[in-house]
Amino acid sequence: MNDQNDGDVKSSSKNAIESIVENSMDSDKKDFIEDHELNLGLDTLAVRAGISRTSEGEHCEPIFTTSSYVFDSAEQAAARFAGDEDGNVYSRYTNPTVRTFEDRIAALEGAETAVATSSGMAAILTTCMALLESGEHIVCSRSVFGTTDVLFTKYLKKFGISVSFVTLTDYDQWQAAITDKTKLLFLETPSNPLCEVADIERVSAIAKSNDCLLVVDNCFCTPALQRPIEMGADIVIHSATKYLDGQGRCLGGVVVGRHQEMDEVLAVIRTCGATLSPFNAWIFLKSLETLRIRMQAHSCNALELAWWLNEQPEIEKVFYAGLPTHEGHVLARKQQSAFGGVLSFRVKGDRDEAWRFINAMKILSVTANLGDTKTTIVHPATTTHSRLSDEAKQQAGITENLIRIAVGLEDIKDIMADCQRGIAALSAG
Ligand SMILES: Cc1ncc(COP(=O)(O)O)c(C=O)c1O
Repeated sequence: MNDQNDGDVKSSSKNAIESIVENSMDSDKKDFIEDHELNLGLDTLAVRAGISRTSEGEHCEPIFTTSSYVFDSAEQAAARFAGDEDGNVYSRYTNPTVRTFEDRIAALEGAETAVATSSGMAAILTTCMALLESGEHIVCSRSVFGTTDVLFTKYLKKFGISVSFVTLTDYDQWQAAITDKTKLLFLETPSNPLCEVADIERVSAIAKSNDCLLVVDNCFCTPALQRPIEMGADIVIHSATKYLDGQGRCLGGVVVGRHQEMDEVLAVIRTCGATLSPFNAWIFLKSLETLRIRMQAHSCNALELAWWLNEQPEIEKVFYAGLPTHEGHVLARKQQSAFGGVLSFRVKGDRDEAWRFINAMKILSVTANLGDTKTTIVHPATTTHSRLSDEAKQQAGITENLIRIAVGLEDIKDIMADCQRGIAALSAG
């Protein structure tokens, strides 16, 4: 995927398909795949893309736990360091297991290539470091993960990069906020935690007509449900910590896009070292194999819970794009293949009531992560979004009575029974 390793491949999906052909197929299968390569489905790519089998003939992808690589000679070492010869150099920026993960996620997103990072925040930071200069400007949706807001307003500001926040679905605001210094437009859709849905094609058109790049955080949907690059996004960001892992085991991130921009992102990783470990890359690889099945199951459970919560008199409002009453429902139907596993809702009352609901849980885990098989519940105003100013919280709709649930894969009746305990705790108050 980068200049040291994969030479001149046109796209990672193509590269991934070629590696299936080169490494694991006899000639009949090879011919078959070559004849059908454009039709390989998402589930096939999720299981097989990026595999580069060693001479040991292993079936499962190996974990290359090595910091560095041995060169045949001083000449070869020099050529590798100079980028004149393809091949591994040092695991801060070249590792076969990490590369398999990068190739696979690029194939799933329909992108040319990808660069893995140590966390989702590292993915956002390295993208900004790679593509922005001091004096330049970001336009960002107000409805983003709290730490993304802090990164932009507190830390990038120190290096002369400014940010303007806009309402995710107000396209006039996106256009109006752009200046001659604007380089990046940044959004999450569906957003965290209110599940607002942005029209990616529309924001992409605004980005293109102003010579800016559109970056989409696709964490809530994953490529199993939504492929922003097909809708005009230039770059996709993931916190792999969430659904790409899917079982709450390790942190990681990835930036997906064209070689042109990703070469810059990789150069930042090479220099600054926000590298994904091969072990974590391997975990993500194994998880990608079940990504679509999991995302469908998360979505089914979440839809059922959203309908049920919506009928409870103690609940003020449910935010889930699967509900026909949600503002983004029609758009979500168009650009997503299901509605995802995260929903949020406001209880009638204030922080006390929200905490009472959360404290009544017997099964759901009170934790800030999402995208786990285990259902998680959190109070955004005092956790994930606690570092936002009161004004920013108010503008982003992060009220004290808001609760976010990332619906897992437990039996839905048990998830609902826990929420029923939460409702009972509200009534008891
Ligand atoms: C939408 C979104 N983007 C990015 C991140 C940051 O990811 P990480 O925790 O892997 O740094 C998160 C974390 O919760 C998130 O929810």
